[in-house]
Amino acid sequence: MTAENSKMTTAINWLGRQLSNHSNPLAYIDPLLGAIDPMLVRSVIPARVLAVHKEARDTKTFVLKPASHWSGFKPGQHLPVTVEVNGSRQTRTFSISSDPKSWKQNGWISLTIKRLPGGLVTNFMHDALKAGDVISLGEAFGDFLLPANPKPLLYIAGGSGITPVLSQLAALEQADYPAPVTLQYYVRTEQDIIGATLLYNLRQRWNNFELQIHITDSGDLLAASHLPDSASLETAHCYLCGPRGLMDLATGLLAGLNVSDKQISTTFFSAPQVALDTDELGGAVAFSKSGKSATSDGESSLLDVAESAGLKPKHGCRMGICHQCSCTKREGTVINRLTGKASGPGEETIQLCISVARGPVDVVI
Ligand code: FES
Repeated sequence: MTAENSKMTTAINWLGRQLSNHSNPLAYIDPLLGAIDPMLVRSVIPARVLAVHKEARDTKTFVLKPASHWSGFKPGQHLPVTVEVNGSRQTRTFSISSDPKSWKQNGWISLTIKRLPGGLVTNFMHDALKAGDVISLGEAFGDFLLPANPKPLLYIAGGSGITPVLSQLAALEQADYPAPVTLQYYVRTEQDIIGATLLYNLRQRWNNFELQIHITDSGDLLAASHLPDSASLETAHCYLCGPRGLMDLATGLLAGLNVSDKQISTTFFSAPQVALDTDELGGAVAFSKSGKSATSDGESSLLDVAESAGLKPKHGCRMGICHQCSCTKREGTVINRLTGKASGPGEETIQLCISVARGPVDVVI
C-alpha cells in the first residue's frame, strides 16, 4: 500500500470514528462509500471491468482496473476473485494473464478465463459480467515465478494452463531476457489457442523465443522428441502448467532426461493429489460455532460439507494454495488430500478445502 493510500485509510477511519464511535469504522463507512462509488470501498479491493473480449473457444479475457490500494503482482501469480452470483458471494482463484508493466503504467490487468462445464463462477463471468461492472479482488499470491538469474527456460503448457505463462513471456520480452526461452503449447484445436496474437507477435520480434503449438486432436501429443536433450536441460528451468495428464507425462519425460525436481515449477492447476482409501473416511461433522452439522461421505472436502450444510466459509482457490479457508478443528482426525497425511486428534488449524474427515470431527465455523 502506498503512503497516499495509507493516509486515505487513516483519514477514513478517523471520519468513521467521529461519525459512528464504532470500533471498526470501515464496516460503518464502507457501505456509504460504496453507495457513492463501489470503487471507493476500502475493506475489499474493488476492480472495475474495463472490457471483455473473446480470446478462444469458451475462453474470454476480462480487462480490469483494480482500486489503487491493490498491491500489484509478479508475472505468474494468481489472485482471488469474488463475484455475486444469485445473491451469494463466490470466490475463485484465477491467474493474471497480463504483464506487470501494463498495471504499473496504465493501471489495468487481465484475467483470461475458460468457461468450465457447470462452473458457477466461470459461467456467470462469461454470461453476465460486462464493462462497467465492479467485482472484488484479493492480493496476488503464488510461487510460480521467474528465476532470479537468467537461464534457459522451457515451458510445457496445455489449454488454459497457458494464462500465467502469457504474463511471464511478455515480462521476459520487455526485459530483453538474454537466455533462450521455448514454449511447447498443447491445445485440442486451433480454436483453442489462447493468447495467439501475443504468442505469434513474440515469435516474430523476439529472437530468443521458440514457439511450438501442437494440435492434440490431430494426434500431436507431447513426446520425448519435443524436448531438448539432457545436456541442454542441465542448466535450464522448466515450467509446467496444464491438465494433470499432460503434467504427469511431462514430469516423467523430464525425469528421464535427468531434470531434478528443483528445476521444475508447476502451477496449482497441476498440484498433485494422493489417492485416498475412502473406505476408512467420512463421519459426522459438527460445525460448533454455527451449531450446524452434516455427514461427510469420505470423498467431499470439509469445505464442500460445510457448504452443503448451508454455511458459507471464507475460501479462495479450493486447492490448498491460498489458505483463505484455514480454520480451527477442535477435535477429530482429518486427512490432507494433497499429502495423504492424517492430522492429530486435537485442536489445530486445518484448510477446509483439502481436508477430508476420518471419523467424527468438530470444526469451529
Ligand atoms: S480455499 Fe484456498 S487453500 Fe482452501
